[in-house]
Order: sequence, then C-alpha cells, then structure tokens
Amino acid sequence: MEPKILTTLLFLTLTSTFITSSAQNCSTYSFTNNAIFTTCITLPVQNSHLHWTYHPANSTVDIAFRRTGVSTSEWVAWALNVDGSGMVGAQALVGLPDSNGSVQAYTSAVTGYGTSLDRSSLSFDVSEIRAERVNGDVVVYGTLVLPGGRTSFNQVWQTGPVTNGAPGAHPLGSENRNSVGTVDFATGEAGAGGGVGGSLLHRRNTHGVLNAVSWGILMPMGAMVARYLKVFKVAHPAWFYIHIACQVTAYGVGIAGWATGLKLGSDSVGIKYTTHRNIGITLFVFGTLQVFALLLRPKPDHKYRIYWNAYHISIGYAVISLSITNVFKGLDILDPEKKWKHAYTGVIISLAVIAAILEAFTWFIVLKRKTVEKDQGPAGDDAYGANDYGQHNGHSQAA
Ligand SMILES: *[C@@H]1O[C@H](CO)[C@@H](O)[C@H](O)[C@H]1NC(C)=O
Ligand SMILES: *[C@@H]1O[C@H](CO)[C@@H](O)[C@H](O)[C@H]1NC(C)=O
Ligand SMILES: *[C@@H]1O[C@H](CO)[C@@H](O)[C@H](O)[C@H]1NC(C)=O
Repeated sequence: MEPKILTTLLFLTLTSTFITSSAQNCSTYSFTNNAIFTTCITLPVQNSHLHWTYHPANSTVDIAFRRTGVSTSEWVAWALNVDGSGMVGAQALVGLPDSNGSVQAYTSAVTGYGTSLDRSSLSFDVSEIRAERVNGDVVVYGTLVLPGGRTSFNQVWQTGPVTNGAPGAHPLGSENRNSVGTVDFATGEAGAGGGVGGSLLHRRNTHGVLNAVSWGILMPMGAMVARYLKVFKVAHPAWFYIHIACQVTAYGVGIAGWATGLKLGSDSVGIKYTTHRNIGITLFVFGTLQVFALLLRPKPDHKYRIYWNAYHISIGYAVISLSITNVFKGLDILDPEKKWKHAYTGVIISLAVIAAILEAFTWFIVLKRKTVEKDQGPAGDDAYGANDYGQHNGHSQAA
C-alpha cells in the first residue's frame, strides 16, 4: 500500500506548489505622474496586477489595475463583486481602446453572461476613473467608495477582443475562467478563489488530482494486480486482497473526486462540459456496480461464476478506458501547465509498458506450465490456463 500513498502525497504536494507558485514582485512598477500605491498584488492569471492605497478614514481606495501585454484590439476589465462571486453582479472598471490608440475608461455593472459591457453606473461611487496604455501595459485607475464599510470583496478581472469598437465576448480558456479571487484592501491579502465555497481554482485542481489518482491510476493498477499477480501460485490469495484494497481505495477516493466534480458542475452556471460530466456519471454507475458485484459474486466453483467473471472483467475494462479518457478530457478543461498532462501521459505509458511486459511474461509462464503438465500428465494444477479469467475457477480460493 505504501507506494500508492506515496504517489498520492506526491501528487498533492506537486499540485499545491503549482497552485501557489504564481506570486511575483509587482511593487517595483513606476506609474506615470509618479503615482504611488501602498500595496500591490500580482493576480494569479492573465498577467495582471492590482495596486491600491486604502484610506480607512473615509473608506475609499485608490486603485490601479494593470495588465501587461495587451494588444490595441483588446479590452480589459477589473471588478468587485459586492454581493456574489464571478461575473454576474460584477461592478466593473473597463478599459476600451480607441481607434487613435488611447484607452477609454468607464464603468459597467454586469447583469448577465450576455453582457457587452455597456456603460452604466455601479452600485458604489467611483471617481477619478481613467485609463492609459504604457509600453503594452494597460492601466485603469479609479477611486472607489467601498460599500458598507467593508474592506474584503470578491474580485474578477478579464480581457477580451474588441469588435467594431465595442467589447466582444471573452474567450473561455482556463486563464479566463480562473480570473476570480478575493481581495482585502485593509490587510492586503488576496485569495486565489471564487469566494463563496472556497477557491475555485483550488477546487478544480483538487477534483483533478483526486480523480486522476483514483480512477486514472489506482484502478488500472488494481486491474493489473488481478491480471498479473494471479498467475503466480505464491501470490494466492494475496492478489485478491491487494486487488480489492486497490479498487476499494480507488473507489473511495474516486467518489470524493466525483462529488467535487458535481459541485463544480452545479457552481459553473455559464459553462457546461457535457461529455466530461456524462462520462463521469457513467463511471460512477459502473464503479458502484463493480463494488456490488464483489458482494454478489458466486462461489468460485459455482456454475454461474464464469458469467460473473466475464461481467466483472468487461465492466472493469470499460471503467479503465473511460477513466483514462475522462482524465484527459478533464486535463483539457482544467488546462494546467503542460507538465501535468505530460506527467499523466507518462504514468499511463509506463503502466501500459509494464502491462505489456507482464502480459508476455504471463503467457510464457502459462505455456511453460502447460508443457510441464503435458509431460507429467493431467495431475498438475490446471488452473492457470492462459491466464484466464473464468475458464478455470479452481485456483481462485480467495475469489
Ligand atoms: C519587491 O521589490 C521591492 C523593491 O525592490 C523590495 O523592497 C521588496 O522587498 C520586494 N518584495 C519581494 C516579496 O521580493
Ligand atoms: C479620503 O481620504 C484621503 C486621505 O485621508 C484623501 O486623500 C481623499 O481625498 C479622501 N477622499 C474623499 C473622497 O474624501
Ligand atoms: C482619441 O479619440 C477619442 C474619441 O474617440 C478622444 O476622446 C480622445 O481625446 C482621442 N485621443 C487622442 C490622444 O487623440
């Protein structure tokens, strides 16, 4: 069991590093007009920074939202979401490029996913709003009167294309979906998350790791244990218990991962990943069937055992192929750094190579036994025919 726990820990550790590794020093930036802000944070995605000075006496904050590397045909926006989180309800400061190269600043209260960032006033007062383009950076300035004396808010920021002089819908890549978080103007603390219910990016990553490790790695390993350890007499009945332990652990962790997926699905109102979701639900059904199949399996010498074995193995292979498919689908949705997809691909290729070698080795052992049995007559244990599942059941004392 230790190697599995180690693998899990390794994955969790690596993931938490990549969640938190995006911090960078933003305090060395020089603004035009020698504007000075006391605090700044580098936002986790979209090359964006938020600089501000908070005035507790009158509950105002002077902010500068800065995004680097913005083309002259892109808008930028930064918003507080006072009562909710994410895009709907966002009280936005927008920077929209003009045909003459300057950037106009205005406010827009976002009321739905179909917004075209029309000009409207916000639910709190904003003054001193302006925007500028400096060396490919766009900076939007404003002074906000923080509502209700609060200092901590959900924030959201975004970039999108300009079509016919107006803001067009932003793309839905991972950077565009993960540009949500929290900010506390008094303490200078920023969270990477979507506010309500904790960090969205963190939850997505947790979902990914739980499912990749359980459905995507442990389950195939558990199946390999059943197929390849079984052939060794000395591994009886250990293979059976290792197989069960692997699959039950994988199922337990997998259910946790599955539940986080359902929650993510119900929270992401504007975006649907139908295939990923449907495969996930199918996997849950098949996985649960496998657990019940375990409880309902006939005795090894029962005449129906052969059908049970065929059923168990075919559902098992279906689960494994769907699991691997869905981990890749999930990786495409989550779109983390390339190394994560490479890492998972590497693990799957390694397992496939190991399986191929063991498969060859198993056939070698089985054929050799057959030869020996022929020489010695039929008295030997005939249970190891061609690494069968179900053709011969005599050997499966434990199963
Ligand atoms: C960021 O840069 C400023 C000025 O160079 C320096 O004083 C500060 O310690 C740096 N902060 C970090 C976290 O490196
Ligand atoms: C709020 O207070 C700061 C400093 O205390 C001051 O510079 C600023 O002008 C005030 N803003 C308003 C809108 O009164
Ligand atoms: C650019 O055009 C806008 C109107 O579209 C105008 O308000 C602004 O002053 C112009 N800026 C420059 C630098 O010409």
